[in-house]
Amino acid sequence: MTEPTILAIESSCDETAAAVIRGGKVLSNIVATQAVHEQYGGVVPELASRAHQQNIIPVVSQAMLGANVAKNELNAVAFTRGPGLLGALLVGCSFAKSFALGLGIPLIEVNHMQAHILAHFIDDPKPAFPFLCLTVSGGHTQIVLVKDHLDMEIIGQTTDDAVGEAFDKTAKMLGLPYPGGPMLDKMAAQGNPEAFSFPVGNMPGYDYSFSGIKTSVLYFLKNQTKENPDFVQDNIANICASVQHTLIKTLLKKLVQASQDLGIKEIAIAGGVSANTGLRQALQNDGSKYGWNVYIPAFQYCTDNAAMIAIAAHYQYLKGDFATQYVSPEPRLRI
Ligand code: KG4
Ligand code: ZN
Repeated sequence: MTEPTILAIESSCDETAAAVIRGGKVLSNIVATQAVHEQYGGVVPELASRAHQQNIIPVVSQAMLGANVAKNELNAVAFTRGPGLLGALLVGCSFAKSFALGLGIPLIEVNHMQAHILAHFIDDPKPAFPFLCLTVSGGHTQIVLVKDHLDMEIIGQTTDDAVGEAFDKTAKMLGLPYPGGPMLDKMAAQGNPEAFSFPVGNMPGYDYSFSGIKTSVLYFLKNQTKENPDFVQDNIANICASVQHTLIKTLLKKLVQASQDLGIKEIAIAGGVSANTGLRQALQNDGSKYGWNVYIPAFQYCTDNAAMIAIAAHYQYLKGDFATQYVSPEPRLRI
């Protein structure tokens, strides 16, 4: 079977998503975003699991209907095994297992971070191997050497907070509503990136550290508001632009270094933070400067979705990489 039809499910965090893919072509891609977390200013794991439980059947039904595929046409069912929140992963995993068992078809376990990277193989242009992928999300910050679809090596990563966390926590300190990253991005577009400067940790090799910047933003805001209680209100766009600029500069410095050391000019970004306008622009600029072929995912494939799980499952299916019914979620799964 070279044109497998696969149902893929993603439930690692706060999006319940399902997609159907046939022969590597995405036929449907449904995402239900869980609004319940907004009032808490962040994802509440128990509420995420409950919302997945409520959403999973309607989301899968919509994906099947949208693709115009009947259950008996499916060749496999794929799901995100990890990394992610245990209770959230359990919903997708249990659903996929039951569905596959009921239909008597194979089960495919997908690594969420590999899937973010493989989203580049949904549409053209596709990166050539080997390429470097800066994978930036709410839980991860990694530079990955991608040797083949399913052969990846992390060559650098954060030693503490993920860059998405730095975006979200800064946004929270500024009183911006959840989800903070996209809001900070919007505000930054109207500000001056050089208005304020923040120190960043210098880690060895291709590793990162983002916890320091969070602390420096916190003290900066404390000091400034002591003198002017309206400081945040008066300077919000400039603060957002300056923090975003610092984060992007840090991310790209190590990526440039890795590209030069390894002599690789095929460069991609992936994960939720790759939706950031400033990062997309800065990567294009570095691409022109260093002669890279730059690959930036379409917005719908940056943040969590099931099309990326489906494309990963497609390559795993071709390789015969199937899971057993004993598989369980792995919250700390690594590439
Ligand atoms: O990949 P993703 O959807 O979920 C995880 O696997 O973590 O990434 C979510 C992260 C959050 O931290 C969110 O604030 C961030 O991606 N994000 C952004 C933007 N859109 C999403 N950060 C900065 N600018 C954006 N436009
Ligand atoms: Zn993700």
